[in-house]
Amino acid sequence: MLIWKDDYNLGFQTIDSQHQKLVELINRLYDAFIKRQQSEEVRKVLEELLQYTKYHFSEEEIYFRRFNFKETLAHVKEHQEFIKRVQDFKEQAKEDAGRYVFSLITFLQEWLINHITHSDRKYIDCFKSNNVF
Ligand SMILES: [Fe+2]
Ligand SMILES: [Fe+2]
Repeated sequence: MLIWKDDYNLGFQTIDSQHQKLVELINRLYDAFIKRQQSEEVRKVLEELLQYTKYHFSEEEIYFRRFNFKETLAHVKEHQEFIKRVQDFKEQAKEDAGRYVFSLITFLQEWLINHITHSDRKYIDCFKSNNVF
């Protein structure tokens, strides 16, 4: 299970609560998976996570474009590759949920925390100077 830490916060209320919601969804996925690997719940939560992630990424990207964030291209590429990875996992999990969902969860946890604490951190100055709060 992922536990939210204060130093994951970037200092923007909307973004931080979206990140927390993503952590919560990953934990729900883990929980559903532990309880019953093949359950409908796993598929439902995974779909919800995918949709919410897309929504969160598009929110960040709206700001990037509005503020001409200099690392937009590289950052958007990271988002796109992540979505692609999760979609691929989703396909594989249809065949062997037990095998793929667990590696998916490990990937999600590592990717999200790494992305928040490294890549997302890079836009703090840009967002602050554009009065995002
Ligand atoms: Fe983010
Ligand atoms: Fe991001």
